[in-house]
Amino acid sequence: MNERIIAPSILSLDYSDTKAQLEALNQSQAQWLHFDVMDGHFVPNITFGPDILKGFKKISHQLMDVHLMVSDPEMYAPIFIDAGAQCVTFHTEALDNDLNRIQTLLEQIRSKGCLCGFVVKPNTPIELFETLLDKVDLVLIMSVEPGFGGQSFMEEMLDKVRWLDQIRNEKQLSYRIEIDGGINGETFRKAVDAGCDTLVAGSYVFKGDIPEKVESLLR
Ligand code: DX5
Ligand code: ZN
Repeated sequence: MNERIIAPSILSLDYSDTKAQLEALNQSQAQWLHFDVMDGHFVPNITFGPDILKGFKKISHQLMDVHLMVSDPEMYAPIFIDAGAQCVTFHTEALDNDLNRIQTLLEQIRSKGCLCGFVVKPNTPIELFETLLDKVDLVLIMSVEPGFGGQSFMEEMLDKVRWLDQIRNEKQLSYRIEIDGGINGETFRKAVDAGCDTLVAGSYVFKGDIPEKVESLLR
């Protein structure tokens, strides 16, 4: 069993108070920081470039977990690794769900000493990628449509989590199962019971006392 890791998503951070919020996060039990990169093309929203990641790294103690919601992850993965990403996930849909392209990019990310994984949107079947599961450090399951924080948890996505957990047991693999979207003080329990060990939470963590919110997801 993997240890449970909380990865607050900085998409919901209050940018008028960035430094104080990152320092509060450093006082919390969050081990990863989930950095949502959106290009305004793969998803209808724009967020952060690599220079912002470099700035965060000067303050934050967490491992930088970069979630690429971009149309060209083959171009951007190395750029974010050079900027300090320690874990990179990219969407299979951005590579037309092509197993060869996905495997090549996973290998590239790993060869740079970075944790690697792929992400699927809610409508993408996870079973397509079974042959890649011995080549990843983690799989990220979207439990909302990517693009925005603050949406409601799609409970049906737990079927994907259960399947991943079953394969992990059957094949004695150890990849992490990360879930992203709508995680709060109630939904996290369902995700953990289904097999998730890595919980992304944005709006839930940054509304209220940050260390307390993180702690509540570890109960
Ligand atoms: C959505 C992002 C998420 C988002 C989660 O596209 O990938 O990481 O910040 O936000 P909440 O936890 O508010 O659903
Ligand atoms: Zn994300």
